[in-house]
Amino acid sequence: MVTEVARRGTSGGVATSAEVLTAACQCFPGQLTVALSYSDDPLGVLLQTDQVHLARAIELAERGRGHTSPNPVVGAVVVKDGQVLGEGWHERLGGLHAEREALAACGNADTRNATIYVSLEPCCHEGRTPPCTDAILEAGIARVVVASDDPTGKASGRGLGILRDEGVEVTVADGEFAARARRINQPFRKHARTGRPWVMFKAAMSMDGKVATRSGDSKWISGEDSRTLVHRWRGHCDAVVVGIGTALADDPMLTARYEGAPRQPRRVVFDAEGRLPLSSALVKTSRDFPLTVVVSRAAPRTATDALEAAGAEIIVATGGNEPARVKSALDQLGGADITSILLEGGPRLAGAFLDAGEIDEMRLFMAPLVVGSAAARDPLEGTGAEQIAQAMRALSLECTQVAGDVLLIARLQEW
Ligand SMILES: NC(=O)c1ccc[n+]([C@@H]2O[C@H](COP(=O)([O-])OP(=O)(O)OC[C@H]3O[C@@H](n4cnc5c(N)ncnc54)[C@H](OP(=O)(O)O)[C@@H]3O)[C@@H](O)[C@H]2O)c1
Repeated sequence: MVTEVARRGTSGGVATSAEVLTAACQCFPGQLTVALSYSDDPLGVLLQTDQVHLARAIELAERGRGHTSPNPVVGAVVVKDGQVLGEGWHERLGGLHAEREALAACGNADTRNATIYVSLEPCCHEGRTPPCTDAILEAGIARVVVASDDPTGKASGRGLGILRDEGVEVTVADGEFAARARRINQPFRKHARTGRPWVMFKAAMSMDGKVATRSGDSKWISGEDSRTLVHRWRGHCDAVVVGIGTALADDPMLTARYEGAPRQPRRVVFDAEGRLPLSSALVKTSRDFPLTVVVSRAAPRTATDALEAAGAEIIVATGGNEPARVKSALDQLGGADITSILLEGGPRLAGAFLDAGEIDEMRLFMAPLVVGSAAARDPLEGTGAEQIAQAMRALSLECTQVAGDVLLIARLQEW
């Protein structure tokens, strides 16, 4: 059972720390999710029926998760006289867009004067498939209700303008619905606006916030259910990233190992000097699962040549410090249509990502363990904030119980 027990601070907008704590504590008795939002987002001005159908369109969009990148996930519902005529979602890259799927699902039903609810503004350009605005006009749709905008240059309201010019009534949601629709497409939105992938950082830590003991041991901090969940996140992301410290300490595979995984993510290792051993599990599997090694200009040619010959792709990150090299690598990965990254640590690389301002969401498992020691490792190192006032503040915080662990999900940036 997952129950939302707190949506926002009782004071209305920003939750106080006492409210955070009270809400967080409530997740221990059962399997509860506590969700706290730190932004004041009023429910929009949609009609009750609009809200029901738009919520369904957003729900349908989720079915494409892991299959559509670099495209967004999108859902659509066609409704006439209170009856749902057809539903659809963007199932996979290169497949029909949600609007065309939903219209096709209407079969022989008369779609003239119907309303279409779409989680993202309809496209008006010829891409891998023809423009959705054409399909909407051909079907005689009278009203289009859209949950969120498409920030890419070729969209940004153009499709809505075309529909309005053709006499179609267009309603654009605001408030909670718009926020929800934006949230499901954070990788697409960040990539469209910055050219860099959206980054989700995950770590498994003890109750005293340690991700490895003083000797570097970290197997296993979180329980089996938590680790299964991480495999699913890998399957949903375009790439999984670790630093060479973690690659050497844990010799991971970084593949998505669960039945029905939509695809395997690209495995990426930040390794300035090309030290990743040819005998590592990552290199040995690089012909089956893509592997990229991010080196600096200082990497010896012999090392990068050997990694390439073994099947790895090499990226050279430039910049005078670690955060700058993170940004350089993300620019290049984004240029190769990587829109989402699961950053799996370790602490030094995660700290460089934080210092670069490139962590968008954090998922932290807290296990019922106490590790101790000043020499044990924290989840994030790097330079960090000097004053608490300069610390990054989460936009929202969710707390869920996963078997014996607690999972904290914090959204740090919204795109
Ligand atoms: N509990 C958990 O969730 C978890 C998760 C992951 C890891 N761990 C543990 O964390 C430990 C390893 O962490 P770590 O901090 O030592 O290593 P790390 O963060 O995995 O890797 C750090 C190394 O990455 C390389 N690097 C390349 N480009 C970089 C850049 N732009 N910014 C920062 N680093 C860059 C650097 O080595 P070069 O200069 O040689 O390139 C750096 O020393 C292990 O004990 C592992 O078991 C725990």
